[in-house]
Amino acid sequence: MDEKTLIKIKNLERYYKTDSIIVKALNGVSFEIQKGEFIAIMGASGSGKTTMLRILGLIDKPTKGEYIINNLNVVDLPEEERTYYRLTQLGYVFQDYALIKEMSAVENISILSLMEGKNKKESIGEAHEALTKVGLGDKDKRVPDELSGGEKQRVAVARAIAKKPKILFADEPCANLDTHTSEQILEVLKELNQKYGQTIVMVTHEPWHTRYVSRLIQLKDGLIVSDKKLRG
Ligand SMILES: Nc1ncnc2c1ncn2[C@@H]1O[C@H](COP(=O)(O)OP(=O)(O)O)[C@@H](O)[C@H]1O
Ligand SMILES: [Mg+2]
Repeated sequence: MDEKTLIKIKNLERYYKTDSIIVKALNGVSFEIQKGEFIAIMGASGSGKTTMLRILGLIDKPTKGEYIINNLNVVDLPEEERTYYRLTQLGYVFQDYALIKEMSAVENISILSLMEGKNKKESIGEAHEALTKVGLGDKDKRVPDELSGGEKQRVAVARAIAKKPKILFADEPCANLDTHTSEQILEVLKELNQKYGQTIVMVTHEPWHTRYVSRLIQLKDGLIVSDKKLRG
């Protein structure tokens, strides 16, 4: 693996076993991700996008295949190390924000570092820096109910980038947002990519979102059917 290669996956397969049938959600997927890329993953519903992102984000494990981040084989890591790696090195944004209702924006973000044993000042400083990057530096004390859908998603992005992860994953981050608000989220992601060099992998189903990305990977029935550099 050369220096710019951040992630390498090879022949990745993921089968789900239900009662009597086996669903082959990923059928042998291989690609590499270079530092600084902003990748969109597209494909029809059920094509395996979420399955792939969850494996890349170390939330789920492949049935077969290789997954290497920065020369480290993460498939074979013991469970505790995998979890630690995920929480400290990777960022993940969910479609439905997954914020804690009772906590302010800054608390939603700083809690992770506090739980890890970092001191309060450092944790809050980190959270503020992340909120400022997504343009919410002045709304740090608001709880989720006092924020719009787009603002909630920006808090979720801030939480995902607070520890400066090697890579940021986002699963349909604009799915619940109108076009104008989606544009704001995509602008935030684009700025994180261009200004801070954040590597990003985003699942989306809106073709116009690809205007913001540098590469497009298309999935169909658990296989890559197209992988194109768009710009940059
Ligand atoms: N936990 C699960 N158990 C059984 N089948 C699943 C599970 N998760 C996803 N699948 C199936 O795997 C395929 C891919 O799903 P998914 O990765 O969620 O697709 P996408 O995100 O592209 O819509 C679908 O056929 C889906 O029904
Ligand atoms: Mg999905």
